[in-house]
Amino acid sequence: MLPGLRKISVLTSLLCIAAIAVFFNSSRNLSVFSLGSHKSSLCSCHKCLTDGDPRFTEINTSSPKPFLSRKIMISEDDFNWWKRIYSERYNFSFYNATVVNIFKTFPPVPDVVEASPDRCRTCAVVGNSGNLKGSHYGPLIDFHDVIIRINRGRTKGFEADVGKRTTHHVMYPESAVPLDNTTHLVLVPFKIKDLLWLLQKFNQGENSAVNSKRMANKDLVMILSPAFMKYVHEIWLSKNGSYPSTGFLTFALSMFICDEVSVFGFGANKDGNWDHYFETLKNKHLRTGAHAGSHEYDVIQQLHKKQKIQFFKGW
Ligand SMILES: *[C@@H]1O[C@H](CO)[C@@H](O)[C@H](O)[C@H]1NC(C)=O
Ligand SMILES: *[C@@H]1O[C@H](CO)[C@@H](O)[C@H](O)[C@H]1NC(C)=O
Ligand SMILES: *[C@@H]1O[C@H](CO)[C@@H](O)[C@H](O)[C@H]1NC(C)=O
Ligand SMILES: *[C@@H]1O[C@H](CO)[C@@H](O)[C@H](O)[C@H]1NC(C)=O
Ligand SMILES: *[C@@H]1O[C@H](CO)[C@@H](O)[C@H](O)[C@H]1NC(C)=O
Ligand SMILES: *[C@@H]1O[C@H](CO)[C@@H](O)[C@H](O)[C@H]1NC(C)=O
Ligand SMILES: *[C@@H]1O[C@H](CO)[C@@H](O)[C@H](O)[C@H]1NC(C)=O
Repeated sequence: MLPGLRKISVLTSLLCIAAIAVFFNSSRNLSVFSLGSHKSSLCSCHKCLTDGDPRFTEINTSSPKPFLSRKIMISEDDFNWWKRIYSERYNFSFYNATVVNIFKTFPPVPDVVEASPDRCRTCAVVGNSGNLKGSHYGPLIDFHDVIIRINRGRTKGFEADVGKRTTHHVMYPESAVPLDNTTHLVLVPFKIKDLLWLLQKFNQGENSAVNSKRMANKDLVMILSPAFMKYVHEIWLSKNGSYPSTGFLTFALSMFICDEVSVFGFGANKDGNWDHYFETLKNKHLRTGAHAGSHEYDVIQQLHKKQKIQFFKGW
């Protein structure tokens, strides 16, 4: 290109940028364009999760991406944190090799709708608490764009209280349920075996199709990153518990893929028991195992008080 032409094209680009800035300024304020600010978090909701609250520091550009992808590998530090959950004997190179294999089968880039100023991504995070029983939240839950359910959470027979739609279902092998063709399977891997499980479930071939083909749509599989799990444990839970529960990881994930978050079915039922809406409680004791259940609950409550999220406590 001739030097003169280049100048003109640079000038044209600058004019374009200015025009865009003025255009945006007419409808929104300019904080997105200020240097050093994080990537645009603006959305078209009445209020966006990440907008202008300096206290809301959990989400920042240095936090890890929530999903694994072919391009982003985790660090050895992250791996060592993760490995400790199950005292795994596998080493980092084995992990690396497994992840390479994973992305030969599953989408190498996670199917995430990115934030955009002309979008409002509303999400319902639906836990399995017995407090959903009799809540009649079904239609309200179904009204959200993204509806995330967890572990053995189900809808059949409970539609009036928990809704019908599921766009994402978060699970690990021991809690897995078959999904329909349009639901994203979000795997929370707690160990390498969980990644191997995923490969095995979907690579059994057409013949031994009994459980593999019906597990979920292969093109909608996403895997939570061990680096993200560590980040949630350290930054969001201040290292309470030995690692975050699936429910809390799901909640934290929603902060990254939604502009507005409504939380349903978390915490105890009206009698103070931590049961599930789809089963009758046998053992009436609060048991949260390796997880700091009540601390996780408190963190969610605090964000509700700060009006960052909406919490629906059910019955
Ligand atoms: C942006 O809008 C504000 C008022 O909303 C105005 O004062 C300011 O001059 C505008 N800036 C530009 C660059 O148009
Ligand atoms: C611009 O947006 C930020 C964050 O959303 C907000 O804190 C600030 O008050 C806004 N400024 C104006 C002039 O609207
Ligand atoms: C941002 O995330 C990083 C990575 O987890 C964390 O170390 C840091 O403390 C966070 N920053 C803020 C301001 O929260
Ligand atoms: C890692 O594990 C693999 C197989 O489990 C083994 O072949 C390899 O030698 C190990 N690498 C290191 C550096 O220990
Ligand atoms: C694993 O992969 C990461 C990222 O590609 C790389 O930095 C690291 O050296 C690898 N480690 C091993 C032991 O293969
Ligand atoms: C499920 O979706 C896949 C691809 O999206 C398609 O090939 C397949 O036919 C669908 N199966 C059913 C039962 O709808
Ligand atoms: C749990 O988190 C709180 C902050 O919310 C922190 O003060 C406390 O030290 C943590 N407890 C443990 C056991 O890490």
